[in-house]
Amino acid sequence: MSSPLLAVEGLSISFPGEGGHMRVVDRVSLSVAAGETLALVGESGCGKSMTALAIMRLIPKPGRIEPGGRIQFEGRDLLSLSVPDMRAIRGARIGMIFQEPMTSLNPVTTVGDQVMEAIELHADIPREEARGRVMELFGLVGIPDPKSRFVAYPHQLSGGLKQRVLIAMAMAMRPRLLIADEPTTALDATIRAQILELLRDLSAKTGTAVLLITHDFGVVNEVADRVAVMYAGQIVEQGTRVELLSRPRHPYTQGLLRSIPKAEARGHRLEEIKGTVPRPGHWPSGCRFHTRCPFAFAPCPIEEPVRTPVSPTHAACCHLVEREVQP
Ligand SMILES: Nc1ncnc2c1ncn2[C@@H]1O[C@H](COP(=O)(O)OP(=O)(O)OP(=O)(O)O)[C@@H](O)[C@H]1O
Ligand SMILES: [Mg+2]
Repeated sequence: MSSPLLAVEGLSISFPGEGGHMRVVDRVSLSVAAGETLALVGESGCGKSMTALAIMRLIPKPGRIEPGGRIQFEGRDLLSLSVPDMRAIRGARIGMIFQEPMTSLNPVTTVGDQVMEAIELHADIPREEARGRVMELFGLVGIPDPKSRFVAYPHQLSGGLKQRVLIAMAMAMRPRLLIADEPTTALDATIRAQILELLRDLSAKTGTAVLLITHDFGVVNEVADRVAVMYAGQIVEQGTRVELLSRPRHPYTQGLLRSIPKAEARGHRLEEIKGTVPRPGHWPSGCRFHTRCPFAFAPCPIEEPVRTPVSPTHAACCHLVEREVQP
């Protein structure tokens, strides 16, 4: 088997906290193959954005990546690259759409110039050629009438169009990996579906792999090839979309799936996972989910479950799975 495009192994991230270092991401391992879409799913605060920022080496200070973890991208160890080498990868080989998209565009520069800047940062090409590329990119991401949109300011565009501009910017250098952090959260349902369709098309057309971060399993259903589920700083289940949707093994994944809004359930209260996500520094002993798990039994508060394969492509960290008990 050829090595994956991105391989994260044993990644831990900590911030200084009460009584030492407080981990917010704990021994996370995941991989993304060339061209595939991996969805990283979990409730707010579980460490999704920190994981993505670590891949770009953009963890805000005083946070830090703990020694021992590895991030391999295109066969290179990102954690040992020099700052200029990392800068050359960021934006060129790896594109990123950050969370809170509505604040990521500069309000006083036209959107065309902003995408041009993204190109000129990495490619030494004549302005006319860069302008041509922006038009092409606008076409690629489905911005109608690119010429007039080029000279528009962000406030003149709808939320959906602004998101398309940000995607164009992230795709400007034809990256091999696009990290999209909650790219549809701020959008209404129709626009959300269009943006997801765009991401799917882009990946198919350009061969760019996507690491898609979301708290919404509905999004997973629409675009992911594979899924990694995160809870309290850890990956608790990983598998293909079909495996996770049809046969989720971790009670947390099962809970997330039950909370997808279904058309026929509209107006009914969704079955949610009881309780709240524990904060970093306050993670329960044993299995971190045991305080909210409807199936918790004797070992759960005591022993940390180990990653247990249930198929060659599917694994979960749960004592029930370890003991082959069907919840
Ligand atoms: N600057 C910081 N200092 C200390 N802790 C932080 C800092 N930034 C984030 N955290 C903590 O790190 C944890 C993980 O945050 P992260 O942003 O990765 O979560 P997330 O899964 O992306 O959540 P969301 O769905 O809300 O975006 C959170 O508990 C958060 O409180
Ligand atoms: Mg986040």
